[in-house]
Amino acid sequence: MIWTIFLLVQAALLYFILTHRSRSKGEPPLDKGVIPWLGHALEFGKDAAKFLNRMKMKHGDIFTVHAAGRYVTVLLDPHSYDAVINDSDSLDFTRYAQVLMERIFNLRLPHHHQDKAKAMMKKYFMGMNLGTLNTTVGRHLQALLKAKMPKNQKDWKEDGLFDFSYSLLFKAGYLTLFGGEQNNNSSDPSSVYEEYKKFDGLLTKMARGMLKSEEKRTAQSVRQRLWELLTPAGLTGDSGSSPWLHGYRRLLQEEGADEDTQRKAVLMQLWATQGNVGPAAFWLLGFLLTNPEALTAVKREFSRISQMETSEMPLMDRTVNTPVFDSALEEALRLTAAPFITREVVQEKILHMADGQEYLLRKGDRVCLFPFISPQMDPEIYNEPQKYKYNRFLNEDGSAKKDFYKGGRRLKYYTMPWGAGTNGCVGKQFAIDTIRQFVYMVLTNYDLELCEPNAQLPEVNASRYGFGMLQPEGDLPVRYKPRNTH
Ligand code: HEM
Repeated sequence: MIWTIFLLVQAALLYFILTHRSRSKGEPPLDKGVIPWLGHALEFGKDAAKFLNRMKMKHGDIFTVHAAGRYVTVLLDPHSYDAVINDSDSLDFTRYAQVLMERIFNLRLPHHHQDKAKAMMKKYFMGMNLGTLNTTVGRHLQALLKAKMPKNQKDWKEDGLFDFSYSLLFKAGYLTLFGGEQNNNSSDPSSVYEEYKKFDGLLTKMARGMLKSEEKRTAQSVRQRLWELLTPAGLTGDSGSSPWLHGYRRLLQEEGADEDTQRKAVLMQLWATQGNVGPAAFWLLGFLLTNPEALTAVKREFSRISQMETSEMPLMDRTVNTPVFDSALEEALRLTAAPFITREVVQEKILHMADGQEYLLRKGDRVCLFPFISPQMDPEIYNEPQKYKYNRFLNEDGSAKKDFYKGGRRLKYYTMPWGAGTNGCVGKQFAIDTIRQFVYMVLTNYDLELCEPNAQLPEVNASRYGFGMLQPEGDLPVRYKPRNTH
């Protein structure tokens, strides 16, 4: 007995000596929390926005927190973001992304894989090829909407707006990139969506390594099911997948990835391409429905465009100017896009802040920007930052507003839903075009309204801060029917 206690005390001491850390000269303020090893992990995971706001009040725009055995330096001054975003020598995105890949997808890919995969994405999702993708998404969206609301339907149909938006956009995106047409070799988009939703629900816990044992089993079986459903995607000529997915499969094969690794990698791509678009469209439609003035302005812009439409081909998949819609979307994203921009410190670095201060970053730590707090919700930059103002990003003359200030200086980054710099979102334009087509189709061809005229948007699920687009807690009941039938 006495030996056991002795050994335990020794182990605790050794642990303390090995993990003890204090703030050295030149380093940012250090906040370790009181719980050994866990540090601030629980508070961080529960509601990162609240926790980081609390830390900001206590320490200012830069500080290091301890969470689950890691030290994370959080930077909240947007004037200083370039020092992180544009440094790929000392700060590495890939190393950090690999940790997530292992935790969420059970996937290990060679270090150089991401560079090649990203170059491939750029080729297929940007420039010339984007037009074809937009047309295909538009076609699928139209067919899915028609199937949901046949032209002869006269009565209102009720649904939750989140599920309505997410399921339609997920299925259209899945059919465009992974599945092709129905009734062929590929899996039914509804089954993939059902499984994907379960997976998405467990995502934040998987990423944090905080699944309970029951949840671990569910996560494993959902992943297994998704791997099976995605097996044919991009493999054979008749799976109807996009040229991008065929190319990606070929890349994996050239790298010698086995069947199992390939399926896991394809699931990761499903998440990267489909995880944010549906939630973004939900928030935009939700803000429009709860702000009648905004809805009228966007509808007015759309109706001018629909009057110009001559053929069956929707104008929206081509280059049309929609400044009001663009501003309404930018504003929705300002309020609901909350990614962490995280990098691993691969060699010691001196971080130069815009105010002239310098801080030492330790090798092995992480650096994290959280643009949601600043610039996006910063009252110094945005008047009444909690409020949805659809024309916040419009000038008086109707052009896009791009000048925003903090501390008297114009900001380079005034909102960052897509990240920025070398690791910024490759799918940005595709995502914007898809959301625009979707909202255009819904608002032009259908009547969509709140079931309860004075309903408010649901609260945010606070555990999702840091993971890209936020999601609601619960849903917003809406009803819809085709427009020309009343
Ligand atoms: C509303 C929808 C979307 C949002 C809000 C969004 C947001 C983001 C953000 C914030 C990042 C940067 C992460 C970082 O710097 O750490 C990112 C990266 C990325 N996004 Fe998106 N995204 C969206 C849709 C898409 C779509 C549709 C695609 C694919 C077609 C896509 C592909 C990617 C890829 C490949 C990267 C990684 C870039 C790299 O490796 O450096 N995203 N996205």
